[in-house]
Amino acid sequence: MKFVLVFVGCFLATSYGDDPYIINDKYFPDSFLFGTATASYQVEGAWNEDGKGENIWDRLTHTRPELIADRGNGDIACDSYHKYKEDIALLKGLGRFANQVNDAGVAYYKNLIKELKDNGIEPMVTIFHWDTPQPIHEAGGFTSEFVVDYFGDYARLVYRLFGDDVKYWLTFNEPKQICHEGYGDAQKAPAIVSPGIGEYLCTHNVLKAHARAYHIYDEEFRATQKGQVSIVIDTPWYEPNSFSIADAEAAERKRQFVFGWYANPIFNGDYPEIMKARIAMRSELEGFSSSRLPKFTKDEIAYIKGTYDYLGLNSYSSYLVAAVPEPTIGNPSWEDDTGAPEFQDPSWEGAASHWVKLTPWGMRKLLRWIKATYNDPAIIITENGYSDNGTYGDDSIRQRYYQTFLSNIRDAMEFDKVNVFGYTVWSLLDNMEWMMGYTEKFGLHHVDFNSPNRTRTEKPSAQYYRKVVNTHCLVDSCVNE
Ligand code: NOJ
Repeated sequence: MKFVLVFVGCFLATSYGDDPYIINDKYFPDSFLFGTATASYQVEGAWNEDGKGENIWDRLTHTRPELIADRGNGDIACDSYHKYKEDIALLKGLGRFANQVNDAGVAYYKNLIKELKDNGIEPMVTIFHWDTPQPIHEAGGFTSEFVVDYFGDYARLVYRLFGDDVKYWLTFNEPKQICHEGYGDAQKAPAIVSPGIGEYLCTHNVLKAHARAYHIYDEEFRATQKGQVSIVIDTPWYEPNSFSIADAEAAERKRQFVFGWYANPIFNGDYPEIMKARIAMRSELEGFSSSRLPKFTKDEIAYIKGTYDYLGLNSYSSYLVAAVPEPTIGNPSWEDDTGAPEFQDPSWEGAASHWVKLTPWGMRKLLRWIKATYNDPAIIITENGYSDNGTYGDDSIRQRYYQTFLSNIRDAMEFDKVNVFGYTVWSLLDNMEWMMGYTEKFGLHHVDFNSPNRTRTEKPSAQYYRKVVNTHCLVDSCVNE
């Protein structure tokens, strides 16, 4: 509507509605949640203390250390298992917190949640952030349907234990990384190499397990605990490489294979049509008797559809997609199934992590696309952040990253009426960045991993983020909408 009048459009274009680099100077609403996130394996350490069982990351880092960039592991990590009070002191004044639970540390998490609440911080809890217990993995892990029951039981336990104090739940963090990287191309634990097969079996079970956990909350806890449940889905923005229709189609196909793979069953019902058609077509040419993409029954589609109260979105960057000829038929792979390889413009400014680029414009486009494609959900950005390689003295680029991404989020709220209700920085602390070990650091606080004390030091960008959290404003002074 705002562009119906040419003059209005021109006016907006010269202010900030259409320029992704002009910083929005409107206040975020009072109710907007700002926070920071961490994840248990990445910060806690104490890998074998107090009866904690072995998980797939313990096993991978101990038995195949050569797979980790610096041969690092999470045995001690940031030692947050012992230093959580210190971490909450850092959090206080910055904003809110996301974490996840495993059943080995009930007392730890009770104390953690209490300490958060005592400090006026709202906990947002992710039930599963990649640390599958090793025995569950050895019985088949996420490629076996039994995990649906186990995950449901586990979710019921954490709701029962912590649900009186937790109002925002997330079932799974980044299912595509669990499945594609864990069971497809071995880029994450359990490092199974089963491209084009393992990740589809895994996804099928993750979606059912998510739905089970959602329904358990709905039926057994919602009335008394009055919380909300969702899932975190991650995606970059995929921008067509040109104005050609073929590139636009390739980019949309990629979005469906990355985000729609999870979002479509939950928000619209069943896998995206383009996935069903392409995987069936390629499976047949490869000689499979049925599609490598498992099928949901009608009842399963209905059971999974609608299992969200909001959406948790992780997004850090953008990619370009150009149309390519159909990949040749050979060994199956998710990449070939997409038929839409991705790449980045070498001129884009980047972080220590090769995939994180300063492309804030992609965030607004992504939010707009999600609103249009998935029934305008309430969205919290559960992760967004920038990595350094240890040189953090001047991290003004990280400040610029937060500022420009948040500005595009604010633009999406103001001009596109996207319902975004919160934003969480990854991460409160430098931590164990999975296969990259301690070589890529996303923290608002530097952690000295050489000191037994794991000393925390605030990075300059933390001061900017504190100001944003306290004022709800990205620039020196803001105006109301
Ligand atoms: C995604 C994951 O949830 C988190 O564990 C990871 O460290 C960050 N993004 C950065 O890669």
